[in-house]
Amino acid sequence: MQETAYFNNTFIPLAEAAVPINDRGLLFADGIYEVIVSRKGKLFLTDEHLSRLQRSADAISLELPVSVAEISQKIDTGIKKAGFSESMVYIQVTRGTESRRHNYSNEIRANLIMTFRARPEYAPELFRQGAALISVPEIRWSRCDIKSTALLPNVMMKQKAVDQGYQEALFVSSDNIIRECTAANIFCVKNETLITPPADQHILNGITRSFILEQANSHNLEHFERDCSFTELCQADEVFITSSTVDLMPIVKVDDITIGSGRPGPITQAVKNFFPTR
Ligand code: PDD
Repeated sequence: MQETAYFNNTFIPLAEAAVPINDRGLLFADGIYEVIVSRKGKLFLTDEHLSRLQRSADAISLELPVSVAEISQKIDTGIKKAGFSESMVYIQVTRGTESRRHNYSNEIRANLIMTFRARPEYAPELFRQGAALISVPEIRWSRCDIKSTALLPNVMMKQKAVDQGYQEALFVSSDNIIRECTAANIFCVKNETLITPPADQHILNGITRSFILEQANSHNLEHFERDCSFTELCQADEVFITSSTVDLMPIVKVDDITIGSGRPGPITQAVKNFFPTR
């Protein structure tokens, strides 16, 4: 098993990989990305992730250097080369390499970077006992629907959460509306109904979020995509967050407020059961 990188058609050991100093992803965070993980050795929801990669590329007028079908083939090759039983694939497409200036030339060609590593593991207590969120002001831009690599606010707020002993930070707008966490979407449960913020420009429309909403539909679990205030969140029966890397993590504390019974609840468990077993 070896952590492996891919850069513009070449696979190399991750430790030896480097990007050019003039890569616009490095200089300007001028790029987009995806994270896909495997379960039982098979990548989960790959087509959905690659469609979102294409949507993010279109949103920033970036032409992918190869088609998503070719990216998918290269992912299969990379996973085999790396050889982990459960993998995490990181895909990043940057605008390309050019001397630093804010605008770019018509000739620029995007760089495709991928890494193939073991799927990260999280402490089992976080799932058994639940995790804690700190609320932070929404300081991000107004196109959070684009999966951009420009993540400085997310980095700053995640670090603040961890430094203060919390697992994640939740962005809350100036008018007290909850948005999402630094790397996960959020759901509240009230009276056995799921409530999650709408997939507008304020949040990333998570692939895991969409998977849960589809499953809720087919399992007749009532669900609403609508704005939810911070006060409503604090009064919820249950709260959980979702992402490709964690699937679903129960939340039992927000700032110094205990959510519901202070333990992961039955609807959270029911939603967790929607996921195919690992
Ligand atoms: N992040 N919101 C934000 C801001 C995210 O960064 C992510 C995922 C999500 C959940 O999206 P999905 O269900 O498609 O993984 C929501 C990835 C995992 C990351 O940055 O590592």
